[in-house]
Amino acid sequence: MASTAPLSHATTKHSRLHEWVGQVAGITQPDEIYWCDGSDEEYERLAQTLIEAGTFQRLSETKRPGSYLALSDPADVARVEDRTFICSAKESDAGPTNNWRDPDEMRETLTELFRGSMRGRTMYVVPFSMGPIGSPISYIGVQLTDSPYVTASMRIMTRMGQDALDQLGEDGDFVPCLHSVGMPLLDGAEDVPWPCNGENKYIVHFPELREIWSFGSGYGGNALLGKKCFALRIASVMARDEGWLAEHMLIMKLTSPEGAVKYVAGAFPSACGKTNLSMMIPTLPGWKVETIGDDIAWMKWGKDGRLHAANPEAGFFGVAPGTSRRTNPNALKMLAHDAVFTNCARTDDGDIWWEGMTPEPPEHLVDWRGEDWTPESEATAAHPNARFTVAIAQCPSVAPEWDDPAGVPIDAMLFGGRRATVVPLVHEARDWEHGVFMGSIMSSETTAAQAGAVGQLRFDPMAMLPFCGYHMGDYFAHWLATGRREGAKLPRIFYVNWFRKDEDGKLMWPGFAENSRVMAWIFRRCEGRARAIETEIGLVPPVGEGGIDIDGLDVTPETMATLLEVEVEGWKEQLSQVRDHYARFGEKLPAELRAQLEELEKRLGI
Ligand code: OXD
Ligand code: MN
Repeated sequence: MASTAPLSHATTKHSRLHEWVGQVAGITQPDEIYWCDGSDEEYERLAQTLIEAGTFQRLSETKRPGSYLALSDPADVARVEDRTFICSAKESDAGPTNNWRDPDEMRETLTELFRGSMRGRTMYVVPFSMGPIGSPISYIGVQLTDSPYVTASMRIMTRMGQDALDQLGEDGDFVPCLHSVGMPLLDGAEDVPWPCNGENKYIVHFPELREIWSFGSGYGGNALLGKKCFALRIASVMARDEGWLAEHMLIMKLTSPEGAVKYVAGAFPSACGKTNLSMMIPTLPGWKVETIGDDIAWMKWGKDGRLHAANPEAGFFGVAPGTSRRTNPNALKMLAHDAVFTNCARTDDGDIWWEGMTPEPPEHLVDWRGEDWTPESEATAAHPNARFTVAIAQCPSVAPEWDDPAGVPIDAMLFGGRRATVVPLVHEARDWEHGVFMGSIMSSETTAAQAGAVGQLRFDPMAMLPFCGYHMGDYFAHWLATGRREGAKLPRIFYVNWFRKDEDGKLMWPGFAENSRVMAWIFRRCEGRARAIETEIGLVPPVGEGGIDIDGLDVTPETMATLLEVEVEGWKEQLSQVRDHYARFGEKLPAELRAQLEELEKRLGI
């Protein structure tokens, strides 16, 4: 009943939870079990443990108080999609975009891997709430992990500790999340600063049982199981079954100069600037952006017939490189203290640095591999996927309602990819079904950095390709059913593209804070106050009156015209790739989407 470790104050009478913890300990054989209470003292002790283990380096108390740097094993630096599995009972339920494995066979494999995997270590019991504690939008999870780094990160990223246990009560449901770095310390073996099992990673989801098992990695989405594994892959299945939406979306609050408020959710693939957009400082006078979430939105129906969104997370696990005073001044402010940095470079005065943080790099750094670095070095100083972990509450632009159990009613949804060509700066869906079509064909162009031909489209429907826990054809059907709900007051849907380039390869739109101009047009559309022109692909703002305000912006009306032009030939040319993309989903592709594609073909004159 009570905690099994002397320093914790966590208590619970949840017998199923105790049984599960006992069972897992029987298999994994940790030296100790520690139940997390989520207190500040506990976080301090975890940090101390991590410093002693060499995982955390304390940063300068004058430069960055309360902050730490962790350097990972070079074999453990990012999510591993090829080692991520959906083990649904039927293969056809995982669909063509997921790695499927037979659940019984996988369970056997994992049980053998986990056998004795925590020997020589402490197993932390980490109870957490995804979403505001007690909200009808929220769910509880419990992660068992042998990583104090993961435990400390979960304290930042979720509402973790006794409050979650209290919410669970004596027999509440929870999502079991089992995690091991997969490196037992046998016969008194010495630990390493970043234990992992580089050769043998498994990130496994059992959607029917709503269970997660993760082995071998201590990094980010592989290991902080509340994030991609629970809040997207498992929650997307829960959302399908229960009639709500779990999406890879930021949530932001927009306030107009008159003081009117709209809430916007937005799906963009990884590394397309969701974090920057969610906390931007608008350049348009009188407008305000406040932040509710930067990565995930859970949306359930309110009594008012609207979708109410909550951010299941309580922290940001953001990509550090490229974050600067120009791209995201609020992020730099929130990172001034009490943050964890992973795989960033360290300055000689005990601070951190990453590419793009300042126009000029420091003269000398210790890079993410722990090696000396100077501006002449060939490799980057920070790993391109270096991250910061920080509490949302520290964000200067946080909206007071970020933790409101009622969530916020969504007025508009954004979809967007990284398209150098064809796709205009913004266009609006004619209706929900058309919007679902737009989301289902979200794409980015491949660049030289990726395998495959340059200029090929990579489709990432609703930015959920790596995160949907079931067949994407069924996922589209679920979106369509959402729109048919009786009495639903649906958000408007928009498709934005900040990344159009001119013939010289130069970005045509300044982006970042100037995106507030597009957001203002979207806001006015929701109010019924902005104009739009009906085109082949949807509703596009006019250049000038009733369109996007470019007053004071260094973009000419001619460039605006190009940014908003519907390139009929370009759209026609890419349609064969859209058809191929749709063909992947076979019979599960909803007829409505096929009809939308045919309608688009007709409008384009095919
Ligand atoms: C993320 C991602 O880490 O989408 O948020 O990859
Ligand atoms: Mn993400």
